[in-house]
Amino acid sequence: MYYFWFLLGLLVWGSTLPVQAIPPRAPVQCDASTICTLYNSYGAWGDRKDCHVKTVKYPTTEEELRSAVAYANKNKLKVKVVSKFSHTIPKLACPSTDDSLLISTSKYDSQIEIDTANLAVTADAGVGLRQLIDKVEEAGLSLVAAPYWEGVSVAGLISTGAHGSSWWGKGGAVHDHVIGLSLIVPATESEGFAKVIQIGPKDQLLNAAKVSLGTLGVISKVKLALEPGFKRSITYNFTDDSLIETKFIEHGKKYEFGDIAWYPSKHTAVYRYDSRVSMDTPGDGINDFLGFQANEILISESVRATEKALESTKNVNGKCTLAATTLGYKKLIANGLKNNGQIFTGYPVVGRQGKMQTSGSCLYSPAIRIDSSCAWDPRIKGLFFYESTAIFSITKFGDFIKDVKKLRDINPDNFCGIDLYNGFLIRFIKASQAYLGQSEDSVVVDFNYYRSDNASIPRLNQDVMEEIEQMAFFKYGAKPHWAKNRNLAFLNVQNKYPNYGKFVAAKKQLDPQNMFSSEWSDQILLGKEGPKSEGCALEGLCICSEDRHCSPSKGYFCKQGLVYTEAKVCRYSPSSLSQSLL
Ligand SMILES: Cc1cc2nc3c(=O)[nH]c(=O)nc-3n(C[C@H](O)[C@H](O)[C@H](O)COP(=O)(O)OP(=O)(O)OC[C@H]3O[C@@H](n4cnc5c(N)ncnc54)[C@H](O)[C@@H]3O)c2cc1C
Ligand SMILES: *[C@@H]1O[C@H](CO)[C@@H](O)[C@H](O)[C@H]1NC(C)=O
Ligand SMILES: *[C@@H]1O[C@H](CO)[C@@H](O)[C@H](O)[C@H]1NC(C)=O
Repeated sequence: MYYFWFLLGLLVWGSTLPVQAIPPRAPVQCDASTICTLYNSYGAWGDRKDCHVKTVKYPTTEEELRSAVAYANKNKLKVKVVSKFSHTIPKLACPSTDDSLLISTSKYDSQIEIDTANLAVTADAGVGLRQLIDKVEEAGLSLVAAPYWEGVSVAGLISTGAHGSSWWGKGGAVHDHVIGLSLIVPATESEGFAKVIQIGPKDQLLNAAKVSLGTLGVISKVKLALEPGFKRSITYNFTDDSLIETKFIEHGKKYEFGDIAWYPSKHTAVYRYDSRVSMDTPGDGINDFLGFQANEILISESVRATEKALESTKNVNGKCTLAATTLGYKKLIANGLKNNGQIFTGYPVVGRQGKMQTSGSCLYSPAIRIDSSCAWDPRIKGLFFYESTAIFSITKFGDFIKDVKKLRDINPDNFCGIDLYNGFLIRFIKASQAYLGQSEDSVVVDFNYYRSDNASIPRLNQDVMEEIEQMAFFKYGAKPHWAKNRNLAFLNVQNKYPNYGKFVAAKKQLDPQNMFSSEWSDQILLGKEGPKSEGCALEGLCICSEDRHCSPSKGYFCKQGLVYTEAKVCRYSPSSLSQSLL
């Protein structure tokens, strides 16, 4: 008990000192023998599962980007693109064969052109979201939608359907604000082996290209719609979770940028009242979300070590204490909202759209030095977790919540491992024309939970997380966010998108040789189940159907779900262990 308060003390103390953040490492690392490895920024792959590449190019202009694709086409190489961030959890950017070219957009980020008269901005594919937003705001304009995390590139974020939260206007998904794209695709020898095609707002092809997981071609420019600059006013209401299953609709309709964070073990829901206000409303606040602030490396490591120890001793109470402390701290500091840019002094917090829509201060290096980093930096022994994100039709979401409540009521403490992170983050996105976007107004729910460093070690209460996952994706037919999730979430995904066939047709037309596909992107886009190996269900590579897919030697057996009985989950059942030893 004392230990957690001690940790919290460190956290509070640490966050008031200026710290020197270590910027994330570049995702492509080459050693002397010219073998290069592509890493995911979380270490979801790269460190633990290799992604080797032979050839990497760093174009700086559109023409260099075109000639890189031409070179690949001429030499019959496959092509994958990665940004300077590489934040996507599925292995989409990893090439699967030796005869591949990896293109990094990390140096292709110099052009940001603002067209004030037409309220639009056109940016190079590798431009970072923060870089873009700052330019747009300088011109007195605002980008309306953005993911909550700013460490992403313009092309990478739209390619996976990244979103914030809104049912208003064009909605919370950034790709629905895209009004033009330039795409580089293979061409004939006489055309120079590759060409740039410009796709306009009325072009059918835009619906295929704006969310295309890097499998349609290489995006060189993205044009986004803007609005006159505005401010936002945010209040968090930490309250109880009664009737959240019906209140969510009214909440999404009432607040332009509202969301809800639900902590089931604490019976707590945090409603974010978040509305647009005019530029002359007083306030110079920022949203410096706690989870994306730089943490001292020592603290991140001790939090992880504590979590690991609680896991190995199956200490549910310890997790619940930690979850309660974390939630209390979030309430105290309003999740990282700062009225004057420095500290939280009271609601509402009002600030410019550019300072409130997205954050990621752990990416940068302020003045004085104390070593700190993003909490998940794979170079330290910091946080390592799964991120499940399911996108529901509005009509089904309430029933999903009711089922999760039933599961929670069996034993609320089983949810402490989720509440220790951000609980269930509920956001809103609007119907989209994008073939791989949402065809109807939807509700997105994210939940994060502990991931073991060792794939063969089961997790505390993993049966509960697995049951929720299978409920979401199979009972309620939710769609997986393309940039998150474990492999099983993608099973049958091609049948969940009514316009999937149109996407495939566009791909046949632009990329007839499948130059931009790999084993990894196929795994996601085709939603196929891989071979069922020992322990495959532990990492979400399969749904268990036999005990060996779990970990019988550690007491985890394949059992049915408690509320959704069709679910098959790995549950700790020591009694089955003694039986199996007989
Ligand atoms: C801490 C954190 C918080 C997050 N929060 C949110 C959130 O609030 N909402 C949300 O929706 N998502 C969120 N995400 C997910 C994130 O938005 C996506 O992973 C996003 O795709 C990452 O962008 P990137 O630039 O790193 O892309 P990468 O990972 O580099 O690439 C993503 C995909 O796009 C392709 N690609 C990249 N550049 C090009 C190009 N020029 N042409 C063609 N294809 C290209 C790649 O091949 C790959 O398939 C979060 C991620 C993190 C790490
Ligand atoms: C918070 O929500 C509760 C429950 O809906 C409500 O009764 C209360 O008035 C809200 N508080 C604020 C400050 O809006
Ligand atoms: C992972 O755990 C298993 C089982 O406890 C063990 O045999 C294996 O050596 C561990 N692997 C690593 C890389 O630590």
